[in-house]
Amino acid sequence: MEILIRPTAADVATQAARILAHYAREGATLGLATGSTPVATYQELIRMHREEGLSFAQCRAFLLDEYIGLPREHEQSYYRTIRREFTEHIDIEDANVHSPDGLLPDSDAAGRSYDEAIQQSGGVDIQLLGVGTNGHVGFNEPGSSLASPTRLKTLHPQTVKDNARFFDSADDVPRHVLTQGLGTISRARHLLLLATGEGKAPAVHALAEGPVSAHCPASILQLHPHATVIVDEAAARDLQESEYYRYADANKPSWQRH
Ligand code: GLP
Repeated sequence: MEILIRPTAADVATQAARILAHYAREGATLGLATGSTPVATYQELIRMHREEGLSFAQCRAFLLDEYIGLPREHEQSYYRTIRREFTEHIDIEDANVHSPDGLLPDSDAAGRSYDEAIQQSGGVDIQLLGVGTNGHVGFNEPGSSLASPTRLKTLHPQTVKDNARFFDSADDVPRHVLTQGLGTISRARHLLLLATGEGKAPAVHALAEGPVSAHCPASILQLHPHATVIVDEAAARDLQESEYYRYADANKPSWQRH
């Protein structure tokens, strides 16, 4: 794992956008994430599109997850969220922005067909990830199989609490979701996880320095051949090897710089 510590959340976004822009220029298949963490990265990519001519016209995108039962046009569906926050503002074809279908009555079939669609597209080149305060990625809550496919999950009460800020009340947060599994996510060729703020410090420590375990689903990054974790100082607070990560970052060979 490559762990990059940046002073602020804005610096995390700048670095992440630089990496994603490299893939966009190649017409890559992008794995997109919702949540508040990647919003600043999306804003930077939108700026690069408008001011520097960065094009996504050759890209395809697959979203990590979706609430079950929310109509697509609901403001908080991830189908809408990713368009509002990112893809409506760039030149990617809307038909090339895919998300799990949380309205299909047969969730197992919906999960299977989503995994098949990802595979048929040639797979995800770079998967952007946030992390929940309890270590979840996508909506793979603690206890998720490390090899899981896209499937229905029940949200952890902590996640319902964390996401209540996007809804009128916690009671309005859907309890079930369709999420890419940890096996699905692991097939992406490059995993890029972002975390900012001290609320994420324990999860960042657990995912990077704790055991690989279903208890911390984000720890699957430790098993991945190409994983990059970018955190701000606050989220890096609990890292035990932070001095070494900074040293390795500062002494990177030039060909590894983005
Ligand atoms: C959400 C999403 C995740 C996201 C995480 C953290 O529930 N399903 O993809 O990474 O929780 O969200 P935030 O970035 O808002 O802290």
